[in-house]
Amino acid sequence: MSANLAALLYLGSGILFIMALRGLSSPETARQGNFYGMAGMAIAIVTTLFAVNLDFMSILLIIGGVAIGGAAGAVIAKRIPMTAMPQLVAAFHSLVGMAAVLVAAAALYAPEAFHIAGPLGNLKTLSLLELSLGTAIGAITFSGSVIAFAKLNGNMSGAPILLPARHLINIGLGVFILVMMAFLMASGGDAKLAFWLITITAFIVGVTLIIPIGGADMPVVVSMLNSYSGWAAAALGFTLENTALLVTGALVGSSGAILSYIMCKGMNRSFVSVILGGFGETGDAAAAAGPQGTAKQGSAEDAAFVMKNAGKVIIVPGYGMAVAQAQHALKEMADILKEEGVDVAYAIHPVAGRMPGHMNVLLAEAQVPYDEVFELEDINSDFANADVAFVIGANDVTNPAAEDDPSSPIYGMPVLQVWKARTVFFVKRSLGSGYAGVENPLFFRDNTMMLLGDAKKMAESIVKSLE
Ligand code: TAP
Repeated sequence: MSANLAALLYLGSGILFIMALRGLSSPETARQGNFYGMAGMAIAIVTTLFAVNLDFMSILLIIGGVAIGGAAGAVIAKRIPMTAMPQLVAAFHSLVGMAAVLVAAAALYAPEAFHIAGPLGNLKTLSLLELSLGTAIGAITFSGSVIAFAKLNGNMSGAPILLPARHLINIGLGVFILVMMAFLMASGGDAKLAFWLITITAFIVGVTLIIPIGGADMPVVVSMLNSYSGWAAAALGFTLENTALLVTGALVGSSGAILSYIMCKGMNRSFVSVILGGFGETGDAAAAAGPQGTAKQGSAEDAAFVMKNAGKVIIVPGYGMAVAQAQHALKEMADILKEEGVDVAYAIHPVAGRMPGHMNVLLAEAQVPYDEVFELEDINSDFANADVAFVIGANDVTNPAAEDDPSSPIYGMPVLQVWKARTVFFVKRSLGSGYAGVENPLFFRDNTMMLLGDAKKMAESIVKSLE
């Protein structure tokens, strides 16, 4: 295949990736977006296979790799429950990071294979800069993602681990990496030890960046690592002079950075402090305070009666709805209420659940009409006019401590102001706290009624009472 044709095909796959991102920005077009992404990737892989002259063994190795990786990916995607998606994403990011480290090492040890050797067999300085950046960002992404996986999967406590002088430690490690990069470039690639010191130090930085980050801030970490994995790939795209890798890496890096920025805004966190891993400090958490009064408990019949007679009901889904897979029963409940003439809307917090768009995906799966689903900023002012806020498996995203209590770990995060509705129903199994480990004072307010039980069973019981 001629170089021009390969460049043209890579450009085509880049355009398909951009269309994929565009499609993924709305639940209505997300499937189409996924299709564009798959088509772009298929073109990129096939072009790469034909762009260089490969011997039979290399082709066999590549096909074997694609088959093993593709089969493992397909099996994992089929088996993974929706609730475990964030840790799966973290695990996949770690693979991208490790791939960047391995490609950088391969380029260092066999520069001729990558066409980056200088006239004397030494590596070009620019290539050394690119590959040391690739290994550094890749190693940070790998170990950071492993820690994020362990925290999200419950293998490690979600509480922040604050090392003394950790910012100084991070700066020291960062400076050491820069010195080693200079050393590697000055040696023309001979100082292999410097390359491995960069890699090992970056593995440590990945750990020290992520361990101070606690529960409620994990969503931002996942999208930030997504961004890092993209930049690692982009750096290697430069080294390998592979346009597709460069474009894809830059797209993943920048879209991950934009998503991190949006999530920081959603949670009122500083973007710069996120990138530097310094945003986990939550001060003296007010997390462990015990129950603050008596909560009123109601039944499915009570909820059915109040909602049937309401003018406007706003449903607030959260992580518990995903765990219970209550979305279908919930939709059935909403349909009956609509038939009764009740105005029903869904309010989605940007970090409800455990991954961006988690609630949107589940509601779309249950075929909830898109025009009934509203983002926080579009619906928050409506709670004051609602008769009922029906909170199902959500907790942190409704916690007024985020507005009232400066000592709270979630202080400053915008929340859905469900308490402004005339009556608030909370469907959950206990009075326990949510992901951030923060007590929710709403449970004890006069206009709150707790509907204790599994979200799906409770929604089904309400449907029965409504019928
Ligand atoms: P949470 O605050 O985690 O609350 C979910 C509630 O669901 C829990 O309090 C739990 O209470 C209840 N629950 C669990 N299983 C249930 C079941 N089977 N039936 C009924 N209720 C059940 O969820 P949220 O309000 O959606 O907030 C999300 C939190 O996760 C935020 O702190 C956010 O920062 C964090 N987070 C978000 C993401 C993304 S990107 N969305 C990623 C990582 C972390 P009981 O145990 O009493 O039932």
